[in-house]
Amino acid sequence: SYYNEPYRPQYHFSQEANWMNDPNGMVYYEGEYHLFYQYHPNSTHWGPMNWGHAVSRDLVHWEHLPIALKPDENGYVFSGSAVVDWNNTSGLGTDPQNPPLIAIFTHAKDKQVQSLAYSNDKGRTWEMYKGNPIMANTPSADWRDPKVFWYDGTKTWVMILAAGQKAMLYTSPNLKEWNYVSEFGKPNGAADGVWECPDLFALPVDGDSNRKKWVLTVSINNGAVAGGSGMQYFVGDFDGTKFTNDNPASSVLWADYGADFYAGVTWSDAPNNNDNRLWLGWMSNWQYANDTPTSTWRSAYSTVRKLELKTLPEGIRLVQKPVSQLEQLRKSVKSVYNQEILPGNKTLTDVSGDTLEIVAEFQVNSNTTADEFGFKVRKGEHEQTIVGYNRKKSSLFVDRSQSGSSNFNDQFAKVHAAPLTVQNQKVKMHIFVDRSSAEVFGNDGEKVITDQIFPDASSVGVELYAANGKVSLDSLQIYSLDKVWK
Ligand code: FRU
Repeated sequence: SYYNEPYRPQYHFSQEANWMNDPNGMVYYEGEYHLFYQYHPNSTHWGPMNWGHAVSRDLVHWEHLPIALKPDENGYVFSGSAVVDWNNTSGLGTDPQNPPLIAIFTHAKDKQVQSLAYSNDKGRTWEMYKGNPIMANTPSADWRDPKVFWYDGTKTWVMILAAGQKAMLYTSPNLKEWNYVSEFGKPNGAADGVWECPDLFALPVDGDSNRKKWVLTVSINNGAVAGGSGMQYFVGDFDGTKFTNDNPASSVLWADYGADFYAGVTWSDAPNNNDNRLWLGWMSNWQYANDTPTSTWRSAYSTVRKLELKTLPEGIRLVQKPVSQLEQLRKSVKSVYNQEILPGNKTLTDVSGDTLEIVAEFQVNSNTTADEFGFKVRKGEHEQTIVGYNRKKSSLFVDRSQSGSSNFNDQFAKVHAAPLTVQNQKVKMHIFVDRSSAEVFGNDGEKVITDQIFPDASSVGVELYAANGKVSLDSLQIYSLDKVWK
């Protein structure tokens, strides 16, 4: 049956069947978080793109809805965003009490153009705008993935659009007519590959709503930190027309150090959106997305994460935390406090599973002699996924080199590492394991690693380990997580 196939995620979002890539059009309206997605309804491979659709009230349980947008004479429906047009600036609303939802996306045929669709029934049905495309003067072959937001400072809509190795910005009074205002890109950050799916939003710094910074996020394919496609971000300012980078152009900030976090963009109009920026990403990589060993469907999304800006010794950085709504899935718990982990592996005989949440705090001080420590999850006789900390390299890592099936691509069986410094003598790991993924949040979300894994269904062991010495474990909770697909 659905949602019980080998590798089928049990608490991450995945479509019922066939192909999915980028999350699209995330918007919150009337108690519902909408999630649309790049969807090929007739195949488990990429092809003519539709927008699939699902809604959730808690970002954890999802209800599938019919396809929202289908290819038409203007082409395939590529990635884009959606907003609530609160003041009906578009004139596409029919009822002043019920503002329209407007989707802004790329139509792709022989060239890429931008189009609109709208809904006046809480996203249940969608109409293509008669004046499509609304932006037809394609300046370059790659010109796509519009993300739109309302900028209160100048009371205008702003669009950020990916165009080759840069992002282009436009403004509009009514979502239909757009004026080019600026661009940002190469030589800033990593620009070896093509930029896709940009976003731009403000966040309080260290929780202080009087002190905000703007964050520009963008996906790049290729040239990401773990190979293939991945996401980077910039921190700076935005004045309604222009983004300025606070950091030197040469500095590269990665949003995720794993191989499988792509096309992440944030929810529009989320409750308390000023400091409640939520996003998720496509848990795959264009290197092998079409080849992963699943059966009736391909791909899933990451957990939903809340974004924050935090001042670290190296500067202001993006921090991601799994949304607290996930805590409702916790079933049983095993707790451990103040234990010395000696060299070798310690099998946790009373916990096992393929849907786990692990919350661990290790004490790292002058008594620590281990070179490396952490967990082995989805452990079977011949396979394991290691989530560890390497003290010599000061890095958090996921080692999926022996995690299960990997022969579909020679780039898959690798180790992905993120620099992480010991803080207040602690290394914290917050790990989410599902049937075909491992996500790790290091030191309260300062560094994140998201990786797909394809272990055998029988590989459900969990081990704690320390290599070449000992480390103390201050606290550990391992929760077994409930499934969300019934
Ligand atoms: C990113 C992307 C987008 C495009 C979509 C097509 O993964 O290439 O740039 O709009 O996928 O499905």
